[in-house]
Amino acid sequence: MSADGAARPEDAARLDESRMAVAAAAAHERWGTTRPNPTVGAAVFDATGELIAVGVTEPPGGRHAEVVALDAAGDRAAGGTIVVTLEPCNHTGRTGPCTARIIAAGLARVVFAAHDPNPLASGGAERLAAAGLEVRGGVGLTPDAAIPGAAGVLAGPLGPWLFRQQHGRPRVTWKYAASMDGRSAAADRTSQWITGPAARAHTLERRSRYDAIVVGSGTVAADDPSLTARDTDGERLEHQPLRCAMGESEVQPGARIRGDGDGLFAHLRTRDPVAAIRSLDERLGRPTEEVLLEGGPRLAGAFLRAGLVDRVEAYIAPVFLGAGSSALGDAGVGTIDDARRFTIEYVEVVGTDLFAELVPAETLPGSQGKYLPGSGAHPPAE
Ligand SMILES: NC(=O)c1ccc[n+]([C@@H]2O[C@H](COP(=O)([O-])OP(=O)(O)OC[C@H]3O[C@@H](n4cnc5c(N)ncnc54)[C@H](OP(=O)(O)O)[C@@H]3O)[C@@H](O)[C@H]2O)c1
Repeated sequence: MSADGAARPEDAARLDESRMAVAAAAAHERWGTTRPNPTVGAAVFDATGELIAVGVTEPPGGRHAEVVALDAAGDRAAGGTIVVTLEPCNHTGRTGPCTARIIAAGLARVVFAAHDPNPLASGGAERLAAAGLEVRGGVGLTPDAAIPGAAGVLAGPLGPWLFRQQHGRPRVTWKYAASMDGRSAAADRTSQWITGPAARAHTLERRSRYDAIVVGSGTVAADDPSLTARDTDGERLEHQPLRCAMGESEVQPGARIRGDGDGLFAHLRTRDPVAAIRSLDERLGRPTEEVLLEGGPRLAGAFLRAGLVDRVEAYIAPVFLGAGSSALGDAGVGTIDDARRFTIEYVEVVGTDLFAELVPAETLPGSQGKYLPGSGAHPPAE
């Protein structure tokens, strides 16, 4: 509070940031379950500032996050604040505009993170302001070190959705595991397991966020991976990605990547990363938002050469091999000036291993890929 009893602007801004962390955490829990719609989180605070409801976008055809939260809040929302990770929509798709619902609930303030780049759905902020509500946008997009646990909205499921709107293609994350000296197998080609059980569980669970997982023919032949998303008990998670083998070689009839006839296997019979990524929309029957490239070294090199690695997830084990295959093949780097440089966005110790998330160095720090607010167009979200 300032001397005259009013909240200082920086305190109010900090409060909005911490409230946004609540909405972002709720969305994070449902990552991958609402496509083609963005996974949005919302939180409603009553006029005294107490948290009274949280909502997340329901699967397609269901309610938007704002409506879920306002249904739960009931009459207590009047005079309060709604905090949303994406600007409330202003158009009628399968559901009515969220702006109308917010105005009808009698809220006093609306705080949101990302502006909606969709020209058909945008305009929500203007409509709400015209109705007399106080509106603040651009809140909590990137991490704020002063708010513990607030990773920033772009680090959650809205990051890939916005990336797709801006670039018209999915965001590609290359994930690998290696020794401290960058090797993915020992000299005799043995590689299981370089990282520990906690790192392996971490990666299996995160697979369910993705639309598709891609590995090269070499990895299919060497490791026979199943590429399923599993929880920490090893049980299959509800959302499973499309499992893709990329390359011209045949995939053996009994290969585990084929699964059990669940329709989630695809052979991308090409060596062209651009063609492979382009083919995914048709295979999935909707815009692909996020692809996980799980290797191996030659395929990762090809994607880097093609400029198609937007994020890296590296699991680095505290072990040295000294010989054996490198985690990365030819990435087109002949001299140090051509090195593929990345910026570290996030680091965590997972079990006994180091986990790091990287973005290309030329992107804005904290931007989670190449998303620049306020640009790009895309078909309307339903
Ligand atoms: N540590 C890790 O994180 C990790 C992850 C995955 C794999 N691995 C290890 O990697 C080893 C396999 O290495 P790898 O390099 O053979 O695997 P890979 O990169 O998965 O497969 C290479 C194959 O992919 C196909 N391919 C498709 N497009 C390509 C392109 N543009 N450039 C090159 N190849 C392309 C080619 O097969 P076609 O002839 O069929 O076209 C090629 O032979 C295994 O030992 C595995 O354990 C490690």
